[in-house]
Amino acid sequence: MSDHAIEALLLEGRRFEPPEAFRARAALRDPRIYEDAQRDPEGFWASIARELHWFRPWTKVLEWAPPYAKWFVDARTNIAYNALDRHLGTPRRNKAAIMWEGEPGDERVLTYADLHREVSKFANVLKGLGVRSGDRVAIYLPMIPELPIAMLACARIGAAHTVIFGGFSAEALRDRINDAQAKVLITADGGWRRGNVVPLKRNADEALEGTPSIQHVVVVRRIGEAAAIHIREGRDHWWHRLMADAALRCEAEPVDSEHLLYILYTSGTTGKPKGIVHTTGGYMAGTYATTKWIFDLREDDVYWCTADIGWVTGHSYIVYGPLLNGATAVMYEGTPDYPEKDRFWAIVEKYGVNVIYTAPTAIRTFMKWGPDHPRRHDLSSLRLLGTVGEPINPEAWVWYYRYIGGERCPVVDTWWQTETGMILISPLPGITTLKPGSATRALPGISAEIVNEQGRPVGPNEGGYLVLTRPWPAMLRGIYGDPERYQQQYWNRFPGMYFTGDGAKRDEDGYIWLLGRVDDVINVAGHRIGTYEVESALVDHPSVAEAAVIGVSHDIKGQAIAAFVTLKEGNAPGTEAVETLKQHVVKKIGALARPEQILFTGELPKTRSGKIMRRLLRDIAEGRIMGDTTTLADPNVVEALKNRYEEEVGS
Ligand code: WTA
Repeated sequence: MSDHAIEALLLEGRRFEPPEAFRARAALRDPRIYEDAQRDPEGFWASIARELHWFRPWTKVLEWAPPYAKWFVDARTNIAYNALDRHLGTPRRNKAAIMWEGEPGDERVLTYADLHREVSKFANVLKGLGVRSGDRVAIYLPMIPELPIAMLACARIGAAHTVIFGGFSAEALRDRINDAQAKVLITADGGWRRGNVVPLKRNADEALEGTPSIQHVVVVRRIGEAAAIHIREGRDHWWHRLMADAALRCEAEPVDSEHLLYILYTSGTTGKPKGIVHTTGGYMAGTYATTKWIFDLREDDVYWCTADIGWVTGHSYIVYGPLLNGATAVMYEGTPDYPEKDRFWAIVEKYGVNVIYTAPTAIRTFMKWGPDHPRRHDLSSLRLLGTVGEPINPEAWVWYYRYIGGERCPVVDTWWQTETGMILISPLPGITTLKPGSATRALPGISAEIVNEQGRPVGPNEGGYLVLTRPWPAMLRGIYGDPERYQQQYWNRFPGMYFTGDGAKRDEDGYIWLLGRVDDVINVAGHRIGTYEVESALVDHPSVAEAAVIGVSHDIKGQAIAAFVTLKEGNAPGTEAVETLKQHVVKKIGALARPEQILFTGELPKTRSGKIMRRLLRDIAEGRIMGDTTTLADPNVVEALKNRYEEEVGS
């Protein structure tokens, strides 16, 4: 980066102690919490879980029959009760739970009492549509208050939600609905994105042609006339009509601690997305505790997580964690650059945000736009900054610290996954000395290790695989409907340990540095995409014979998708073909999977044993071998390169 101040800070190898003003008031200040938890992890988790409401207490904290854990065995609880009802008899009753801002600038504030009422009413709506405990409800909504309301209404009656990110295509939506066998779909007439309408209902209509399990569709009116949608009598119902007739009271149903709470689909190493299963009690305790410790929320804080609820970050740290803590959360519908590049900072100023949680890719984008946008706003309310989703490069960390945090706010770099449900590696802002770029260490009660191929711990500064060696409360309970894949994906590689799919190293101080995925998963702007998913989408096109997809480094997104494609006889490579194939991937998966580059080749370079030479492809795509390539039209080029490469690097 050209900024000398940032360079200087990094060159110093500077460490950042918790600022005294911060530490003095932090909820956690005593480092002995790590040892306490280590001594008795189960007792540790039980004591935090006791801060929540249980209709029936547990008989045992943990039952561990690898690879299956049960937490808070035999207990009965309800996460919506804990997120809402538990606060109603307290001064939080009329406190803002969600302060929502729509992309066009419309606003809505829901107090805990308001949210409780809306959730209860919608729970009655779901019951009226025949939804029962254990049923699955699919949710395909923009970032509007109806999204958390729908999720909490499901949880209130023991139904499981499966939220599908609004950027997914009709086909992706269809596959997820079918895998979950959802009974009801909740969607909207559309969503706003940079002033344009995202046609959610039209995508849903297309998906619904192939989803026999869906009996009813509830449609939120977000756009109005301009959405020009079609309502199918008998199947489709307007949200506001159903709500107008819904009864106000709906008791939260006490469910077993291991009752299915939600399924969230994420990419893995095969073409088929995995339905990650989360259950109630442990997930509740885990998200409650981590929100409280890491974001250090105070009663009057305003907290803002900028993620989309379609991803796990939104589930755990917009909806469940903050509401379980009785916090006030900002929720924003749109993008950071609409209508101007200072929108985030305008929101921070307007709502007096104290704690902000965002992604490294966003921070790198802000760096590119320059510090004048944040400078135009009063950001003095900020007290703590968080990041998640991918490794944060030290330059971005320091930029965030300096230009957003005014050099007074700790930065919590939080590592976790859809599968882990809760943050597992992160600083505790009142305790931990920070090093830019390191997620520091495993939280109290969490056991992380870095191991070599043989599963043995590696030494300081040696790279290895990040594994988790003890169960944790919010861990996934499986892959929906696929126990074999669960075993094989996470537990077979290193027996007795959960394999994260991430590479990492520990430095001489024991700090953990994440090094990115070691499997076939690409992390594009913090979104997980499987190479095989994109390859399947490409070969699905009639012109494509074979495709290989790799992740290449990208300044802003961290990684971008590059595809090498061989066409079937009679199809011409060229810019038109590139566009067609990009469009095809968008149609099959969604815009988030659009390849950045497509290169044509007569044959994919393979080793003698038939393995695709992904390293060679990466070197070509990143321009190390050929310079800037947009399309590689000459079929012989890659073959020639392969030969040269084999000579130089060896296969
Ligand atoms: C990556 C998002 C480095 C990692 C919560 C992980 C990170 C994957 C960090 C999970 C971080 C997430 N530092 N890498 N602080 N946070 N990752 O399931 O590769 O969408 O395995 O969950 O993101 O992505 P997922």
